[in-house]
Amino acid sequence: MANSLPALSPRLFAALGTEAPVVQSGMRGVAGPELVAAVSNAGGLGVLAALHAEPDLVRASIRQVRELTDKPFGVNIWLHEDVRSSPNPEAIPDDVVRAAQSALNELRPRFELEPTLQRPEAVPDLVDAALEVMIEERIPVFSAGVGLPEEALVSRFHSAGSKVVAMVATVADGEEAVGNGVDVVVAQGTESGGHRSYGSKLTKSEALGSSTLTLMTEMIDAVGAAVPVLAAGGIIDGRGLAAMLALGGDGVLLGTRFVATKESTAAQMWKKRLTSGERQTTLTDGFTGQWARVLRSEFTSHWDAAKVEALPGLLQAAAGRDLFTAAKQLDDDQMQPLYAGAGVGSLEGIPGAGQVIDQMVAEARACLARLSQ
Ligand SMILES: Cc1cc2nc3c(=O)[nH]c(=O)nc-3n(C[C@H](O)[C@H](O)[C@H](O)COP(=O)(O)O)c2cc1C
Repeated sequence: MANSLPALSPRLFAALGTEAPVVQSGMRGVAGPELVAAVSNAGGLGVLAALHAEPDLVRASIRQVRELTDKPFGVNIWLHEDVRSSPNPEAIPDDVVRAAQSALNELRPRFELEPTLQRPEAVPDLVDAALEVMIEERIPVFSAGVGLPEEALVSRFHSAGSKVVAMVATVADGEEAVGNGVDVVVAQGTESGGHRSYGSKLTKSEALGSSTLTLMTEMIDAVGAAVPVLAAGGIIDGRGLAAMLALGGDGVLLGTRFVATKESTAAQMWKKRLTSGERQTTLTDGFTGQWARVLRSEFTSHWDAAKVEALPGLLQAAAGRDLFTAAKQLDDDQMQPLYAGAGVGSLEGIPGAGQVIDQMVAEARACLARLSQ
């Protein structure tokens, strides 16, 4: 379908070589080679998740994608300052560790886990090693999220023949990304599932940011003359794509919709929860240490009520690893992060990822044709 008509966004096609203006977000634990290839084979841009992956795994996964598709694809990683170089656990004040662990201790009996006031172990710095592999492998597209790519990094990717896409949550970051030479900007609205795309930790009210519609409008005005601008956050189907094209955008980036697809490696329980008509999402830093939109749960209510500071970087995830791992092993949907965007209430079914792309493009074309009648 995407191949048989002129590209919906010629500018994005020129920038990234994608026939359908739909990018699938890199998502750890969700976006493996099968999902990426299914999206790219359908004419969108599939994006592999490289966060927390050892360099050998990043290389093997890139090569696996290449075996499954000859279309352009991307590889994503976070560039957050505290993820690129993780804080030293020993430097966290005792009372901060104690307060965070005490809040988690109230939940540990659910899984018969021992209470602890221990500091978490250090989180290994894997980002720069993964970036080297991406450059060596001359990937078609580098997708940066949760932190900006600096000019020198953009230039190294360009020298390797890779395009660079940067996801940002403010106009100022969009302008800086364009100044650093990126080829495409993604405007990430507050509706987005998963982590907010900032390079450092902000307060909750700052991290909430703007709606997708507001941010897209401002971003198109600020940088749209220089580079294609994509919208992310709360977009579920072809109506959302048509709306963003009508606004003057060049396409969309979707996360939540692709979690609930056949090729996604997310747990069946998560896919089911996303497609059961639920609408309640919230922003929490209790799972990882960074602000992320998830389905509301007993954990998010407990963490909100505890009113304690999350550990920095991703050390909060390390502090609660026993709890979150036990929840995952037992398929407990109340004690693990089920990332979801605010559009989750409209998600239906668990289709193949290629079908998502085909339907979105067809629906967007129909919407735009109706407008021009
Ligand atoms: C499960 C999940 C994991 C995500 N992981 C990443 C990631 O590793 N890197 C990244 O840049 N963005 C990540 N995101 C955020 C997306 O890039 C994007 O902003 C968001 O999914 C768009 O909103 P939507 O979920 O409403 O479509 C993730 C989102 C979800 C839902």
